[in-house]
Amino acid sequence: MPHFAPALRPPDLSLALAELPREPFTDRFHLAVELVERYAGDWALALARELALAPELGGAASARELAARRGFAPSFVPALRGLLRRLNEDGALVAEGHDDEGKPRYRATGRAPEEHRAELRAQGLAVDPAIAPSLDLLDLAGGLYPALARGEVRGEQVLLGAGHVGLWGEYFSNRHPIYAINNVIAAAAALPRLPAGRFSILELGAGAGSASEELLGRLEEAGRLGDLARYEVTEPSTFFRRRAERSLRARFPGLPLTFSRLDIDAPLDPEGPAAGCFDLVLGVNVLHVARDLPAALARLRERLAPGGWLVGGECVRLFPGQPIAAEMVFLAMEGFVEVALDPERRPEPGFLTPELWQRLFAGSGLAPVELVPDLVRVRELYAHFNAGAICGRRPL
Ligand SMILES: C[S@@+](CC[C@H](N)C(=O)[O-])C[C@H]1O[C@@H](n2cnc3c(N)ncnc32)[C@H](O)[C@@H]1O
Repeated sequence: MPHFAPALRPPDLSLALAELPREPFTDRFHLAVELVERYAGDWALALARELALAPELGGAASARELAARRGFAPSFVPALRGLLRRLNEDGALVAEGHDDEGKPRYRATGRAPEEHRAELRAQGLAVDPAIAPSLDLLDLAGGLYPALARGEVRGEQVLLGAGHVGLWGEYFSNRHPIYAINNVIAAAAALPRLPAGRFSILELGAGAGSASEELLGRLEEAGRLGDLARYEVTEPSTFFRRRAERSLRARFPGLPLTFSRLDIDAPLDPEGPAAGCFDLVLGVNVLHVARDLPAALARLRERLAPGGWLVGGECVRLFPGQPIAAEMVFLAMEGFVEVALDPERRPEPGFLTPELWQRLFAGSGLAPVELVPDLVRVRELYAHFNAGAICGRRPL
């Protein structure tokens, strides 16, 4: 296969990223992101063959209609929708009208590009061996799709099963550059929004603590650890919370860190461990998991001191309908897709566009609402910059 050679990183992108640290956004990182996206695209091409999708798409069909034609399990529809989007982007399918739920229909174009996963994997690991967790997780999910389509397994049960804990740990890690970028951006957005003097932080869905580690590291560099009055690290999973506690206490001894459980879907508990008013409420790749996102945001606003900021580091869909590599994994998980939808505020599960985030934050009474970096500008230059922080302030 020809060596995969994506377009070069647009030179103007550095200007649009001026408020972020320069280091992680290198040409090597750009190439790694492109390779991972292409790898997910090639997985879609392989799965289209294995699931025999094209022969059923001589007449246009939506994911739901195609699932019915092929006898796939209804629970496979969100993942199938992701595959069809990807195949559309690669020219194997063309969009043609909508079904009665307003979802796009696709028809096969007759083009069936070759897939080159083995070569892409080798090239990707040569560019940066640290991206292995992205490739491995795509392999895990892609390998599961046929069994999901047949309704033989539940995605979450397999993907989050005990055998894969190590891989998730490597994926949500600052040593994994494709994921770490979310933490870098969230910390860069949070730091200048902290008040002068002492401040308190509430973190949501902290997992094993990769975002906390990044933020604390940046506070240390900025000489601001001494101003930290309270840092409540919350995470519903006991396993991950303990991991976070162990590693953060070891790396940052003597800091006022507390560890507790907070479920962003649950009503606000005024007596709960995370009660209080915080100068910063931070969550990295957590907010989009909320079942009822507007209600969760309204509750989080109540956790903020007047003038405090909610900072949501998020994997962002830059254009409506844009496929994103990581979604191939997450669309296979029930918790990710079973959320309350609303045509205006949350038209589909999973990652949201900048406009939807701005609307949701503003709708929950936060003002101003700012994007870091300016994704509206960034996406004009580069379509795969799928990470950003949405920042909303509780008015004084
Ligand atoms: C994508 S991971 C985020 C990783 C983490 N922020 C880090 O820094 O490594 C999503 C996290 O959200 C947590 N989560 C899932 N549902 C949640 C809920 N309803 N409330 C709070 N956290 C939740 C998960 O347990 C998981 O740790």
